[in-house]
Order: sequence, then structure tokens, then C-alpha cells
Amino acid sequence: MTDSLESVPGAAARSWDVSEYERLAGIATAAVARFVEESQGAEEPVGAPPPLPELIGKLRLRELVRGERLDAATFEPWLENVLTHSVRLHHPAEIAHQVSNPDVPAAIADLIQGAINQPMSIYEMGPAAHAAERVVVEWMTEKVGWPAGSGGVLTHGGSLANLTVLLAARAVAAPDAWVDGVDGTLCVLAPPGSHYSVKRSVAMLGMGERAVVDLEVDEYERIVPEALGDALDRCEAEGRRPMALVAAACATSTGLHDDLAAIGTFCREHGIWFHVDAAHGATALLSPEHRHLLKGIELGDSTIWDAHKMMRTPALAAAVLLRDERRLEAAFRQKAAYLIYEDSEEESPSLLERQVECTKAALGMRIFMNLAFRGEDGIGRYVGEQYDKTARFHDLIAARPGFECLSRPESNILCFRHGRDPDEQVRLRERLLAERGFHLSSTEVNGERWLRMTITAPATSDETIEGMLDAIEELAAA
Ligand SMILES: Cc1ncc(COP(=O)(O)O)c(C=O)c1O
Repeated sequence: MTDSLESVPGAAARSWDVSEYERLAGIATAAVARFVEESQGAEEPVGAPPPLPELIGKLRLRELVRGERLDAATFEPWLENVLTHSVRLHHPAEIAHQVSNPDVPAAIADLIQGAINQPMSIYEMGPAAHAAERVVVEWMTEKVGWPAGSGGVLTHGGSLANLTVLLAARAVAAPDAWVDGVDGTLCVLAPPGSHYSVKRSVAMLGMGERAVVDLEVDEYERIVPEALGDALDRCEAEGRRPMALVAAACATSTGLHDDLAAIGTFCREHGIWFHVDAAHGATALLSPEHRHLLKGIELGDSTIWDAHKMMRTPALAAAVLLRDERRLEAAFRQKAAYLIYEDSEEESPSLLERQVECTKAALGMRIFMNLAFRGEDGIGRYVGEQYDKTARFHDLIAARPGFECLSRPESNILCFRHGRDPDEQVRLRERLLAERGFHLSSTEVNGERWLRMTITAPATSDETIEGMLDAIEELAAA
């Protein structure tokens, strides 16, 4: 037996030196553990990156690509340098973007997948990873509140997820569009502040950006449900056919939620595909105290849910979810895919007919590992804590003279400003990062400039925010 195995060509030549793997992995995990520990303890500051050309030089990237070599001895100092120039997501003062604060189990899932490489669109190419995706998607549709017959797929990010949903909606409104293209009458109703991937998807679907009809919004950029009838009348008067209506839970800029129940009811009454972009907010379904924010999501025909925002997975792991999964299968109508995979579907199930990607990372494992170790109650607690803290931070900010918040937050995203000068907000943001070690983002809401924070690190506390407000006052006074 052993003899015959050894006679397989190539069996004797090992592609891995496993002792090298163990050594490098040991160095890497020790360095990363130090990095996270320093970050969550705020032992090192959050800093602004150097100019790009300087960083390329510091990390010797060009030299290393072109002949210089790393080895076990040089790897450690080089990795330290890489970490020094990486964003410290676990740091209390890292409060800028909607990037998840990855948890240990999902990080380990990536460590494992990095070595065993299971692109799992087809079952036989990654059986365990494929099974994990199927189960995670099934669980997500249950959390949304849909009955049997719902389903979906995981994809590389919320933008691709929105594109996939709109493609499925187009297949319902114009079943021949895959072959014949679109005729110029289809449109998508969305608030002007919807994530840019909505407009981009519509343009990529060949409908032209002008096919996005702006819905009326209130001062917080939330859809006004009472004005939906007028929007529909205008579409009809112009000979346009709404293919879908998109609402946000929550909106990227403000972190506020559209009234999903009212909008969903309107869409049901008028037979319009209701898409809930819950890329950021869907994880609040796991928090008993906050899931009311998503009330009405179950009326949706589709939703998207980014685990790489609030479910603490590394980028990326986004879900495309449909109340009727057959509509997802109708989205991609390429005969070749069916010819190739139809026969083998029973033995080797495939996701190729539901997704843009051919090769796909083991996205489900990232989500599965966090769920298996932390439970949905553990993840729900994390979301609840970040949302509750952000409400407290609102009160701290609103109590300080000279500061103003856009609104009470409904999530872990909060917009505020010091004074009203738009340029001052931009200057403050830059100086806070460069001189004071606080990383915020900034956004425009209804044409006005705001500072914006997204609270994802458990380490961010009232003291962090008090310190940031003191720093803003000092910078403004100077
Ligand atoms: C509401 C919403 N939808 C979609 C996206 C796009 O997600 P991704 O960055 O994963 O492509 C975002 C990202 O910020 C978002 O906030």
C-alpha cells in the first residue's frame, strides 16, 4: 500500500515545508496578538499613515517583489513594520469606518482557510466550507423572519450583494433582459442617500444611472412613506416601470433606519419588489433590545446582510437573501453554467447559478466560527453594547456647548459637529488623526458637513469620547 502511494508521481516531492509553516505562523500569531493587545489597551496611538510612496519604501515592497527575500529571520521585524502601518481596529480611538472589529474565531477561520484554500462554490471543491455557507444562509433567512422557500448566497461584499439582488429583481420585471438587454422603461426607486453601490449597480445593469428615481426624504435623509404614492404616480406618468424600491437599515451616512413596515406595506400593496439594504444593520436582529429597528424587514423581497460589518468577521462576508430563492436562481441565465453543472448537481451541489463569482472564498466559515463560539446571543450582546454606548456618547456630545448631533443615534453610527463651518469639520478630522490620535470619518447629510463616528471596538468608552471632545475644543481654540 505504502509502495503504491509513493509511486504516485509527485507524492515524494512535498510542496510544503511544514516546519516553515509552524515557525512563520508562530511568529505571525505572536506579533498579531501583541498588536491587538497594544491596540485594545491603547498602549500605542492611532496614527495617520505616511504618504503612500514613503510607506512603499519603508516596507521595502518594491525590493521584495523584485528579488530581495524574506526569511524566518527577517520576517519578524518586517511584520512589525507592517503592523505599525496598519489600522488598529481594536483601539478605542479608532472610530472612523464601518469596518468590523474581528473576533478571534473568525480570525482563526481565515488562518485555517489561508492554508487549506477551499474555494467552495462547488461542493466537491470545499465540502465543509460549502456546507457551512448553506447552513449560515439558512440561519440568516430564519432571523429575517421568512418562511421555507427563502434562501440566498454569500458574496464578496455588500456592493456585489446589492448588484446580485437588483439583477434578480430585473429578471422578474424583464425576464428577457439577460438576452435582449433593457428597453429604457425600468427604474429603481431609492433615497438619494442610499449606498453608492445601488446607483452603480443600476448603471452596471445597463439601465443607466438616470433610471434611479430619487425618493422624497426627511431632514435626516429617511424615506417619507407618505410620499411614495406620488413617486409612483410620477413614474407611471413618465412611462417608467419600477423594478424595485430600496430602503436602508441603516443608512450609511447617518446610521438611521427607514420605516421598513410602512414602506414594505406600500410595496406589497403595489406589487413592487422591496429591497432592504441591511448591510450594516441586520446584525441587530440578534439583539432582543434592538431588533425592533428592523421591524418590517420580513416584508422585503430581498435583503443584504454584511457579516463583515457588525458580525465581527474579517472582510468580506456578505449575504444576499431572498424571500423566494427561486428568484435568485433566475437572476443568472447563462446556459453554459447549467450545461456544465446541471448533471452533477445532485452529487456536487453548486452555488454558481446564484452568484457573480466563480471561485469564492470560504465566506461561510468566517460567520459560522463566530456563531459556533459566541452564539447568536453573544453576537447580539456585542451589537447591543455598541448601539447603547453610541446613545450615551450622543448625550455626552449634546451636553457640551458648541457641539451638535444630527439626531439621536439608532445604531453605532453617530454624526455630530463642532460649530457649523463645513471646512472646520474637515480640518478637525485631519488634525484629530494627525495630532491627537483619534480617527473619525466625515459625511454630508442634506448638503451639510458632519463629523461621523462608527463605534465597533469594545474598548471605546465614555472616557475616550470625553478625551476626543476635549481635543476638539483645544484644536478649535488654537
Ligand atoms: C448600507 C450599505 N450598503 C452597502 C454597502 C457596501 O458594502 P461593501 O463595502 O461590503 O461593498 C455599505 C458599506 O458601507 C453600506 O453601508
